[in-house]
Amino acid sequence: MKNQSNKTIAVIGLGYVGLPLALLAERKGYKVVGIDTDAKKVELLNKRTTPFAGEQIVKQLKNSSLETTTDFNRIKDASVIIICVPTPVYENHIPNLEPVKNACRNIAKFLQKGQLVILESTVNPGVSENIVIPILEKESGLKAGKNFFVAHCPERINPGDKNWTVENIPRVVGGLEEKDLEMAYKFYSSIISGQIKMMGSIKEAESVKVVENSFRDINIAFVNELAMSFSKLGIDVVNVINGAATKPFAFMAHYPGIGVGGHCIPVDPYYLIDYAKQNGFDHDFLKLARKINNNMPKFTAEKVLNGLNEVKMAMNGTKIAVLGLAYKPNIDDCRESPAFALIKVLEKYRASVVTFDPFVPSRSTAKSLGEALKDASAVVIATCHDQFKNLEPEYLLKNGVKVVVDGRNCLPKEKFIKAGIIYKGIGR
Ligand SMILES: NC(=O)c1ccc[n+]([C@@H]2O[C@H](COP(=O)([O-])OP(=O)(O)OC[C@H]3O[C@@H](n4cnc5c(N)ncnc54)[C@H](O)[C@@H]3O)[C@@H](O)[C@H]2O)c1
Repeated sequence: MKNQSNKTIAVIGLGYVGLPLALLAERKGYKVVGIDTDAKKVELLNKRTTPFAGEQIVKQLKNSSLETTTDFNRIKDASVIIICVPTPVYENHIPNLEPVKNACRNIAKFLQKGQLVILESTVNPGVSENIVIPILEKESGLKAGKNFFVAHCPERINPGDKNWTVENIPRVVGGLEEKDLEMAYKFYSSIISGQIKMMGSIKEAESVKVVENSFRDINIAFVNELAMSFSKLGIDVVNVINGAATKPFAFMAHYPGIGVGGHCIPVDPYYLIDYAKQNGFDHDFLKLARKINNNMPKFTAEKVLNGLNEVKMAMNGTKIAVLGLAYKPNIDDCRESPAFALIKVLEKYRASVVTFDPFVPSRSTAKSLGEALKDASAVVIATCHDQFKNLEPEYLLKNGVKVVVDGRNCLPKEKFIKAGIIYKGIGR
């Protein structure tokens, strides 16, 4: 470990992105101060309690001497200030840059000459130059590129991923001027082992992240559309995708499901859609992908309806267990999770919905899997947590389950059909 102890780093926003980054910088020898506007979260962190689950983070936090505070005054001592605040969208899908603006206003009050400000939050091209820098300059009276420096390095962390971590994921970085870029490159080189690619401008670096996540959204929309079409054709789309994936080049397997969740994939494309629209371009393809993926909870609910009809049951008043609330397996993050959209549709059909997620007990209506399944006529796997992958058909039958909708195509289909359960996957 290099000794960086004479240098202080300030991380603004201590969530899924900021906290692992702050802990990494600390492990690499920096003094780190973490600043968050959520006083409760700061209190928890100071008691060394993580606001979200994650074996590694829990361990790292316990062993750290990270200082966390709500006081922006503490950025005064930092040589590098990294912004990791949320970038959500409003209900009408327009980007909500208020957290970024607020963070910049607070930073500007205490900004010092020579400091490097890096935005890690996902944004559309233009945000650093058109929003971040003007706020920092106006409130501080300092000049970007001259008195203080600005760079953008979009975060790529994949919560729950044991192989790709904040430390080894390759990064891209863009700077306002040559010096800003060099400073940012030097900083990331001191904390991460992954490759760092210097981009030609901040705008290019900003674009990389929205393109990456739009790419994923579009690919998932494609297989979700295939799932809807192949359901009608009576062809198992998962087998088809696995067949296509044997081609060693020019095909990348994506799989269908009940929808797309998390703070990134269902949100970031809207940043590009909105920015391009403001500049005279309509992203039809991206909008269609969003529409298809947003429709998957409804498609899944229709699978439940059809399954129940096959056993001559109505949705109205029937107990349906939705298993999994988090947006992906084995984590507790429920942001934008399609499970909630699915529940809404099921409830519109007047089903009696009970939910269980071992990672999210606070939002589950049942305390255990057993309680959720008791007297349920249908089960929907909304998140493929390990605990659900091993569900045995006999166990479900014993509870009175007649229909299983495998919203993540993670159960052994043949085994369920053989046991006499009506099995419906997404496109299989
Ligand atoms: N979660 C991911 O997997 C992921 C991956 C890559 C990139 N990103 C991007 O990183 C950014 C942060 O995401 P996240 O998942 O860590 O969000 P998060 O909601 O988990 O954490 C953000 C934190 O910022 C705090 N905050 C909000 N406004 C603030 C302000 N004005 N000043 C100081 N703190 C403030 C919140 O209290 C919260 O603790 C987003 O732009 C997101 O798109 C997220």
